[in-house]
Order: sequence, then C-alpha cells, then structure tokens
Amino acid sequence: MSNVTPFRREPGERPDLPARHGGGMVVVALASPAVGAGRTMLAAHIAVQAELTGDGPSGVLDADPTGALFQWWNRRQGKMDAPAFGAHCDIGGLAVTLAGMRATEARLCVIDTAAGDAEALAPVAAVADMVVIPSDANAGSANEAAALGRALSKQATIAFVINCRGHSGGEDGNALAATGSGGGWPAGTVQHANAYAIAMTAGRSVTESHAGGDAAQNIAELWRNLRGILVAG
Ligand SMILES: Nc1ncnc2c1ncn2[C@@H]1O[C@H](COP(=O)(O)OP(=O)(O)O)[C@@H](O)[C@H]1O
Ligand SMILES: [Mg+2]
Repeated sequence: MSNVTPFRREPGERPDLPARHGGGMVVVALASPAVGAGRTMLAAHIAVQAELTGDGPSGVLDADPTGALFQWWNRRQGKMDAPAFGAHCDIGGLAVTLAGMRATEARLCVIDTAAGDAEALAPVAAVADMVVIPSDANAGSANEAAALGRALSKQATIAFVINCRGHSGGEDGNALAATGSGGGWPAGTVQHANAYAIAMTAGRSVTESHAGGDAAQNIAELWRNLRGILVAG
C-alpha cells in the first residue's frame, strides 16, 4: 500500500468515475464484522458527498434488515434532493434492486449492509466495485476488519476506514498497520464528532447541519480518497 498516487490527484484531472468503470453505475458497499462501526453513517455521507462533488446522481440501497439508511433517506425527503434514489431490500433481492437502480439516472449507488462475516457479505462484494470497511481505532477491531477485507478482496477493491467513534480523536498506529495488511487501501480516518449522530438523526449529513466544520471537512477528504481508490481500482 505504498502507492499513494490516487490521493494526490488534482480536481482538474479527475477522470469520470463511471467512465473508469465501463460507463455503468459505480457501486460502493459498506461492510464490517462489527455492529456500530459506522457503516450507515458513512454510507449516508458518501452518497451526499458524491453528489456535492459532481459524482452523482447517487442512490442509497439499504440491504440491512433494520433499514436505518433507508429511514434516514426518507427523513430527507423535502429537505434536499440528494441522494436522488433510495431502496431497501434483503441480500437475496440485491441483484434485482440494483438492476432497478441502474435503470435510473444514478451514477453511483451506495449499499449499506448488516454486520456480517465474509460468507454473509460475499454476495454484496460480488456486485460492488469497492467495499469500504470501517473499524474503530483499536487494533483488535482493525484485525477483524483486515481479515474481512482479505476475504472479499478477490471480488472487489477494498478500502479501510478507521472510524474513531467513541474516541476523543487520533488513531491507533496498530490499527492502521492491521488494515494495511488486509489486501486493501487505507482510505483515511474519521474522527469522533457528535455532529455525525446529530446529523443522522435529523436526516441530514454533517455537510448540511455542520457546514464548514471539521466533520464536514473530514468527510470531504474521505470521499476524495475513496474516489481516488475507485479511479485507481
Ligand atoms: N465518527 C463518529 N463520531 C461520533 N459518532 C459516530 C461516528 N461514526 C458513527 N457514529 C455514531 O455511532 C452510531 C453507530 O453508527 P452506525 O453508522 O449506525 O454504525 P453501523 O451502521 O456500522 O452499525 C450512530 O449513532 C452514529 O451516528
Ligand atoms: Mg447500520
């Protein structure tokens, strides 16, 4: 993971994401072995951020039975028209629901999932261009995330995110090292901020509810990195 070229791309040289992926809709899935790793929060924020940076229209596809991402999307109706598309299905209905999403104008689809192991998440990785695996900042969680990443890396590009939920900030070097050995790209760190939970509850993103703040900047930087990884694919 020493090649950091994708992180250095200037906005002016940004290749079109769908063009890089055969012209079709780009599919990014969130996955993790642990509950509460930040999958739903990150899925929502990636979908909004992609629209803001011109990579939309985006859609959210909630494949977690709890439907938290779909509920967030419904709470947004009337506030902002992005993500433009939303759907909820079970893993068995993923292919059909994705086909429906492809029939819309969506150029990016962000899939949220329930916490699971490699076997449970293989059907998701099979339909995704990139699987984003968040883990908290301790090495134990990161090791589990890395193992999941290694298992899914034959099917999709893997990106790891250290999400410092419940921590006052910073990151554990051992966590970074663990994900670095997980067959994927280190996509960056998301610091702890109450703004995320506040925004999600209100059906918003931090870019809207806390515009210009550290959390909003953190998300912008994360999407730049993820986008770079998708382009490098
Ligand atoms: N970086 C963060 N800082 C503070 N709170 C966070 C952060 N990331 C997630 N959260 C909050 O933690 C809780 C769990 O996150 P969630 O996205 O629902 O996890 P998952 O979908 O992986 O179970 C939510 O209340 C969410 O708003
Ligand atoms: Mg969730």
